[in-house]
Amino acid sequence: MGSATTTTTTTTATIPVTVDGQTIEVKPGTTVLEAARMLKISIPTLCHHSAVEAYGACRVCMTEIEVRGKKRMVTACNFPIREPLAVFAESDATKRQRRGVLSMMLARWPNVPAIQTLAKRYGVQNPGYKHPLRNEAPDACILCGLCVKACSEMVWEDVIAFAGRGARRRVAMPFGKQSERCTGCGTCAYICPTGAIKVADEKNNPVDPARIRKYGFRLTKEMATLDDSQCKMRRVGTAHLVEIMDAYDLLPTHNYKFGKHAEIARISSPVWTSLVRQNVPDGCWVGCQMSCAKAVDDFVPRTGPYKGRKVLVDGPEYETVASCGSNIGVFEPHDIIELNFYCDTYGIDTISFGTACAFAMECYEAGVLDKRKTGGLDLKFGNATAALELLHHMSRGEGFGVLVGQGIRQMKRIFAERFGGDPKFLHDIGMEAKGLEYSEYVSKESLAQQAGYAMAQKGPQHDEAWLIFMDMVNKQLPTFEKKAEALYYFPMWRTWFGLMGLCKLPWNDVEPEDNAKWPEPNKVPGHVEGYENFLSGMIGGDFKIQDILKMSERVYNFQRVFAIRMGHGRREDDRGPYRAMGPVTAEEYESRAERYDGQLKELVKVDPAGKSTAQKMALLRQYREEQYEGVLDAVYKRRGWTRNGTPTPETLKGLGIDYPWVVEVVKARMAEEGSA
Ligand code: SF4
Ligand code: SF4
Ligand code: FES
Repeated sequence: MGSATTTTTTTTATIPVTVDGQTIEVKPGTTVLEAARMLKISIPTLCHHSAVEAYGACRVCMTEIEVRGKKRMVTACNFPIREPLAVFAESDATKRQRRGVLSMMLARWPNVPAIQTLAKRYGVQNPGYKHPLRNEAPDACILCGLCVKACSEMVWEDVIAFAGRGARRRVAMPFGKQSERCTGCGTCAYICPTGAIKVADEKNNPVDPARIRKYGFRLTKEMATLDDSQCKMRRVGTAHLVEIMDAYDLLPTHNYKFGKHAEIARISSPVWTSLVRQNVPDGCWVGCQMSCAKAVDDFVPRTGPYKGRKVLVDGPEYETVASCGSNIGVFEPHDIIELNFYCDTYGIDTISFGTACAFAMECYEAGVLDKRKTGGLDLKFGNATAALELLHHMSRGEGFGVLVGQGIRQMKRIFAERFGGDPKFLHDIGMEAKGLEYSEYVSKESLAQQAGYAMAQKGPQHDEAWLIFMDMVNKQLPTFEKKAEALYYFPMWRTWFGLMGLCKLPWNDVEPEDNAKWPEPNKVPGHVEGYENFLSGMIGGDFKIQDILKMSERVYNFQRVFAIRMGHGRREDDRGPYRAMGPVTAEEYESRAERYDGQLKELVKVDPAGKSTAQKMALLRQYREEQYEGVLDAVYKRRGWTRNGTPTPETLKGLGIDYPWVVEVVKARMAEEGSA
C-alpha cells in the first residue's frame, strides 16, 4: 500500500466498501471476506477459520476488487481494506479464478467432500487428466494448514508443522513421532476441514467424543480470541485480579482490616507478568488450553533449607499474593514468592498460612503477643523476615510455630487462656469459620459473600459461592430472596465441579462474546450448556442443568447431615467473625467513615452527627448482624432446611435420600432444636 492509503487509514474512522453493489462502512483492516460476510454475501473458503490468522494458502477465495479505478484479484480472506474499494464477489473474472483453483484441487483430491461441494457450486467437473499426486481418500489432507495454525495460535503448542516438499509435503510432528508436547486437545482434528486428523487415543473412553470435542473446540477458540480482553489467564494468570480487588476495596490488607493499599503497584499484575514464565497448558485436564497456573524459574530463596539455590516456584496465584503479601503487610514480590515456595515445599496452604500469620501479627500489634511469647519473632505487619521464620518454625514444629500451625481456631483459645487476650476481640478478628482460615476477599460490603463464606460446608472459601462482584459491584442481588437464590444455585453448581473432578475456570473466567444477551448472564448459560454436553458426551444420556443441580443437592444435603452427625451443622456454625462483616476497630471505621456514616443515615435511619466512633460502630454492627440473620433465614428456607440449618425429612425425601439412618440423624437434631 502507498502513502495515500496510509493517510486515509489514519484520518478515516470507517471506510466505504461496495460488495456486488451493496455498500457498507468498515473499520480499517477489515478483510474483504469479513466485509462480504457482513452483507451476507458468500465467498468460498477452505483454509480460513475465524479462530486463527488468515494466511491465504488455498486460494479458493480469490476475488476481483477495484481500487482507484484499477481491477485486480486478491485472496479475500486476508486482504485488509485500507481505502475505499469495490468487491466483485461473483464476477466472471472471480469465477474463472476459483474454477481454475478448484479444478486443480479436484484433480488431486477428487473425493474430499469440502472440495466436491465447492466444485459443484462453480460447475467444475472432474478434470480429464490424472494428477500426479492424486489421492482418492475422502479424508485426504489438502494441505490447508489450519491444523498447524490452530496448534500454534489457539493451543500455543506448535506441536505440528509442515514437513517435506512437493509430493512429500505433509503435516507432521517433530521427527515423525508422537510428541510429548501434544496435549491431545483435539483442536487440530476439530478444525480440519477434511477429517484427515484422527484422535487415536481417547484416554477417558467417552461415549460420544465428537460431542465433547465440539464444545472443547468452542472453549479453545474463546480462550484464543477473548482471554486477552477478559481475564488474561494465559498471559498473566489469576494474579491479574490483584489490582482489580484493590480498586474495589476488596484486597485484604493487615488481617482484612482494609481492602486496598497505597503500595498496590508493587504487587500488581505487571510485576507478576515480568516474573512468571511457563505460559503453557498446565496439564491438570487433558486438552485444556487455559494455562492458568504460572511459575517462576530460577528463583533464589534468601532463607531456609534452599537458601542460595535456584528453585522453581509454582505460582503465585492472586490469593497467595494477598495472603502472603498484602494481608500480612508484605509488598516485596521476592518475599511473596519465597513464602509461596516454602508453603508449597512444606505442604502448607498459602491461604491458611497467610491468614493465620495475619491474625498473629494483629495480635502482636494489639499487645496480645510480644517477643517473649513469639519466641523472639517481631511479628509486625510487613516484617517478611519474621513471617518466613515463622513458616520455617511451623514446618519444623518448633516454638511459636507450633501454636500458629494449629490454626486460628486454636490460637484464639490459646491466646485467651494463656496470654490473657480478650476472647471477644480475638473472635472478632480471627478470620476462620468451621475451623478453616478465610480466603482472600474483604467481604464487609457484600452480605451475600459473607454468607457465601461462612455458610460454605467446608469452611470459608469461595469454591462454593463467589458472589462478591455480583452482589457488591454489579448490584444483582438486592433482596434477601435474590441472595438466597444465589446461595442455593451457585453452591450446588460449584459443588458439582468438585464431584466430577472438573475445573470451574472454563465456566466463567472467559465468557462467551454474547454472554450479556443471554437471560441470567451471571450464570454464563452458554458455558453451562458446554458442561451439560460434556457430561452427556462422557457418560451418555442427555443431562440438563436441573439434573446437575439435583446431583449436587443430594451430596450437599448429605454433607450437612454428616456435619450434624459429627455435632456440627448448626446455625452458629454458619456465622463468621465480625471482621468479615464490618469494622471491628475504630481505625477501620474511621478509614471509611464517609461510607459507614452514609450507611447509618440511609440504611439504619440514624443520624451519625454527634455520635462517637464507638457508638456508630455499635449501631452499624447491630444492623449488619441483623441483616446477616435475615440472609441465613432466607437461605435455609430456600434449601428446605429448618431455622437452625437442618435439612427436613421432606427435603431429604424430595431428593430421594431419605434413608432411615439419615432421617434419624435429622430428626434427632430437630428434636434438640425444638422444631420436630
Ligand atoms: S491435539 Fe492439540 S496439542 Fe496436539 S497437535 Fe493437535 S492441536 Fe496441537
Ligand atoms: S490435516 Fe487437515 S487441517 Fe491440517 S493441513 Fe491437512 S487438511 Fe488442513
Ligand atoms: S480461504 Fe482464502 S486462501 Fe484459503
